[in-house]
Amino acid sequence: MVTTPPATRPANPRFSSGPCAKIPTFSLDQLSDAPLGRSHRAAIGKAKLAEAIELTREVLGIPEDYRIGIVPASDTGAVEMAMWSLLGARPATMLAWESFGAGWVTDVVKQLKIEAEIKTAEYGEIVDLKEVDFDTDVVFTWNGTTSGVRVPNGDAIPADRAGLTICDATSAAFAQDLPWDKLDVATFSWQKVMGGEAAHGMLVLSPRAVERLESYTPAWPLPKIFRMTKGGKLIEGIFKGETINTPSMLAVEDYLVALKWGQSVGGLAGLMARADANAKVLWDFCEGRDWIANLAQDPATRSNTSVCLKFTDGRITDGAAFAKAVAKRLEAEGVAYDIGAYRDAPAGLRIWCGATVETSDLQALMPWIEQAFEAEIDAQAAVAG
Ligand SMILES: Cc1ncc(COP(=O)(O)O)c(C=O)c1O
Repeated sequence: MVTTPPATRPANPRFSSGPCAKIPTFSLDQLSDAPLGRSHRAAIGKAKLAEAIELTREVLGIPEDYRIGIVPASDTGAVEMAMWSLLGARPATMLAWESFGAGWVTDVVKQLKIEAEIKTAEYGEIVDLKEVDFDTDVVFTWNGTTSGVRVPNGDAIPADRAGLTICDATSAAFAQDLPWDKLDVATFSWQKVMGGEAAHGMLVLSPRAVERLESYTPAWPLPKIFRMTKGGKLIEGIFKGETINTPSMLAVEDYLVALKWGQSVGGLAGLMARADANAKVLWDFCEGRDWIANLAQDPATRSNTSVCLKFTDGRITDGAAFAKAVAKRLEAEGVAYDIGAYRDAPAGLRIWCGATVETSDLQALMPWIEQAFEAEIDAQAAVAG
């Protein structure tokens, strides 16, 4: 029975899975170079947007012949832009192992009404990529943010596939090794691993994706914010910083600051190492206890960003109420904000471990979780009488 509060508190209790914690060095005055009140089409605005694209390429190691665009509506905008523009040319396979992947299935089946094979796995598990026909267009999420299950690597994706791979990589980019040669479309937003602002999405296209865009016209109408071609040719300007509509130059500046911080901690290798070290704190914590476990079944698929934990103690009578109460206690103590499991996911905790989170804060949080768990077990027993 632990009743005394742990001695150390996390210096930053922000463990939300999006928007995620800002970079550890963040302060608003770092944004003072933002060209506010200027047109994004003025030279200064265009230069900032182009710099955001090129720094993204540099930090993520995206090949020179891949296009990178800043697009509207965050990661959702980027995924939907890709699906609406590219799908329909050949059969599709939709993979889902948590709610965001399931959302893309709904888009394709109910809205686009495309012939698609749907392969799903329960929360905590993953679809076997070896069973997927990559001669179809395959849509999947690299890191399932709401289940904490990720694709371990791109080995199952054939180099000579006939279909396109369309990958929602929003909670993976900058924390996990994305095999660019296996991804024809990858999307992410700034608000995840880099702790940037939401609203803008990144769309990364392989040469094969561009070839599809230039050779195929979907049967359905495309709204202006989805249109990437004109007269059958790619609008190259979009991928040089001439955005389709007006971006927030404040958010762009913030992303640039985050990218430069990323470079200062060792670039992609440094960012991935930070997420790995963070997730290990949680994995080790679970290892030593029989009342809490990783939702991801196979250790190879465990996320190092959105780590999802479930309570496994046999004394718990109402799993959902219990997990909510623990999260509420931690929030009330001011030691962890926004760590309840996603609304559609199994009950538990989801603790963001991306690069902007400090390992020492996670280390400080663990005893608090233990204390909140024990307090809640006691509270439950008291109610039961
Ligand atoms: C895997 C995944 N896809 C899509 C989204 C939606 O992202 P956004 O709100 O940035 O569009 C999220 C947000 O958490 C996500 O985790």
